[in-house]
Amino acid sequence: MKKRTALITGASSGIGYELSKCFAAEEYNLILVARREDRLSELKNYINEEFNVQAEYIVKDLSKPESANELHAETIEILKKSHLEKIDVLINNAGVGDLAEFRDSSLEKLETMVNLNILSLTKLSRLFIDDICSSEDGALINIASTAAFQALPCMAVYAATKSYVLSFTEAIAEEIKSQQLQTKIICICPGITESEFQVRADMESLKIDRKLVASSAEVAEYTVKSLKKGKKTTAVHGLMNKIGTLLPRILPRGSVSKLSHQIMKKIV
Ligand SMILES: NC(=O)c1ccc[n+]([C@@H]2O[C@H](COP(=O)([O-])OP(=O)(O)OC[C@H]3O[C@@H](n4cnc5c(N)ncnc54)[C@H](OP(=O)(O)O)[C@@H]3O)[C@@H](O)[C@H]2O)c1
Repeated sequence: MKKRTALITGASSGIGYELSKCFAAEEYNLILVARREDRLSELKNYINEEFNVQAEYIVKDLSKPESANELHAETIEILKKSHLEKIDVLINNAGVGDLAEFRDSSLEKLETMVNLNILSLTKLSRLFIDDICSSEDGALINIASTAAFQALPCMAVYAATKSYVLSFTEAIAEEIKSQQLQTKIICICPGITESEFQVRADMESLKIDRKLVASSAEVAEYTVKSLKKGKKTTAVHGLMNKIGTLLPRILPRGSVSKLSHQIMKKIV
């Protein structure tokens, strides 16, 4: 079988790192993207040794508005050099959060979050979508969050960026379906997951029930399963998370924000 190629952003830790191993096991060649070169280089070597695929990496700060275009151009160069045809699967996984009330939040962090979680994800989706749609096994996988389903006081901008990812992915999935294309457009919504996310988002002090925390490997495996099933556009990981994302559809919007605020105040 012809090997497909996947580009994974945020491959240097957490969910993206585990996704890279899962996709290598599924015989995808890989282009790994993040900022920490030492981590990417180690992962590339590991994948090249352990799996029968080709892994390459590109170091890129995707919070810069020009980065998506640069990454697209550098990817084309790598594909040419490696005799690989195109990107069949794009996984927009890189993302950051910030735990703070809006009036206490840093403007710099907000800009980074919006540029990374929304702008780069959108631009990369647009830059690669034609290749993805022309692939027999094409897929666009965007990593959102259960935070996408309701307003989240204390993480207002993060949750709003993830609502964007969910709305954007569902809309383009419908467009692609109506064009009779087989391309899979999937939005994965993890709940709280063990990774470096909490440290980066100043969330280490949160009092979270460990039973509700998934591992990055579990979320990565769930992503591969969702891709293979290919039925649902929106895939929420975990039963409790699935139930949690149903509540905002039943309750009045005002009560949902109030309830999320109360929960956040309890755990912060
Ligand atoms: N962990 C959770 O509880 C949770 C829950 C729901 C959704 N998610 C989502 O899952 C995705 C993956 O997060 P994670 O939990 O695996 O966290 P993580 O361990 O912090 O991984 C984030 C990845 O994104 C990369 N990244 C961060 N800033 C970047 C930038 N400016 N440019 C390029 N790459 C950047 C990081 O690599 P470098 O630092 O090397 O660049 C890292 O590889 C995110 O979109 C997050 O919102 C996480």
